[in-house]
Amino acid sequence: MSYVVAVVGATGNVGQEMLNILDELDFPVSKLHALASRKSKGVEVAFGDRTVKCEDLETFEFSTVDIVLMSAGGAVSKEWSEKIGKAGAMVIDNSSAFRMDPDVPLIVPEVNPDDIRLAKKKNIVANPNCSTAQLVVALKPLHDAAKITRAVVSTYQSVSGAGKEGMDELWNQTKAIYGLGDATPKFFPKQIAFNVLPFIGSFRDDGYTDEEAKMWDETQKMLDPDIRLTVTCVRVPVFVGHSEAVTVEFDRPITPDEARAILRDAPGVMVVDKQEADGYVTPVDAAGEFAVYVSRIRQDPTVPNGLSFWVVSDNLRKGAALNAVQIAQLLDESGTIQPKSGYRSITV
Ligand SMILES: NC(=O)c1ccc[n+]([C@@H]2O[C@H](COP(=O)([O-])OP(=O)(O)OC[C@H]3O[C@@H](n4cnc5c(N)ncnc54)[C@H](OP(=O)(O)O)[C@@H]3O)[C@@H](O)[C@H]2O)c1
Repeated sequence: MSYVVAVVGATGNVGQEMLNILDELDFPVSKLHALASRKSKGVEVAFGDRTVKCEDLETFEFSTVDIVLMSAGGAVSKEWSEKIGKAGAMVIDNSSAFRMDPDVPLIVPEVNPDDIRLAKKKNIVANPNCSTAQLVVALKPLHDAAKITRAVVSTYQSVSGAGKEGMDELWNQTKAIYGLGDATPKFFPKQIAFNVLPFIGSFRDDGYTDEEAKMWDETQKMLDPDIRLTVTCVRVPVFVGHSEAVTVEFDRPITPDEARAILRDAPGVMVVDKQEADGYVTPVDAAGEFAVYVSRIRQDPTVPNGLSFWVVSDNLRKGAALNAVQIAQLLDESGTIQPKSGYRSITV
């Protein structure tokens, strides 16, 4: 079986990774449509060893499409996802627009694959926030072994998490500072080059940011509503790869060795944890990879049953595009969707 797939936001950071990963994972695509805004009409994007010309979302006809990988921001998603779902295509949405909708499953396939049964309610499946995706992949196997009651998370999020404009700002500011040019912040609220910003998203009345709230809301929706999280989200001058310092409290004692053994067997996780100067994973190591890496696993002696560790992953991959393509695979393998025009050979 093969599917007609449309990638909305195909010129963006996540959209381009979606095209790469559809190809890398050999997802059965019979026809690929690359969609973006009107200004990108005709722009060529790479899909495997071919190029595909972008089409304009506004004028595109979705009636023959089976799967839409939507990655053009919340406003575009709010305008289009339900319409496309009603027209019969399954939307896998990367924005935050539908993540907390009770009629839309929010899925990380290593964590809550069974929720795919809810996909047909609106023909929309939501992909979590990039920082949440890598966190729950690491937390799930530990939570299965010993219930997690509370977690304290500090993120170190790369600029690619803020899209192309975020990457451009870090690049241009870095050059400007070295070359005595204009380093005035234009996209981030303060200088991002050679700096860290303890603010992502927008402030809520309680002093947290919406990015921080997404992490506890989404973790509770996918993993367990009883897990309490407190989060600080920080933007760092790294191009690709989000890192997280995580401290977890369990309802029973769990040793670092036990946690290492559990995580080594867990799907999607790689443990790299040697007590040597280079025995851990950094964003530079994780960029371009599929795995969620866990390092620096150690006891937290300040609470009865605590562990601290370091989690790193490629935010454009497991944090977005890889997870979206894995959801498409799950929809196919679970029989939740079938191609509209039945069995087809792969022509692209
Ligand atoms: N980056 C991450 O780590 C990450 C992780 C999880 C989720 N997400 C989510 O994924 C989405 C895209 O992120 P990104 O990092 O890929 O952003 P990006 O690099 O800025 O790309 C945005 C894409 O959306 C398209 N677009 C914008 N407005 C449009 C419109 N009105 N109609 C059609 N297409 C439009 C752009 O097309 P043009 O080039 O034609 O403007 C571009 O292809 C966001 O919702 C983001 O929250 C990102």
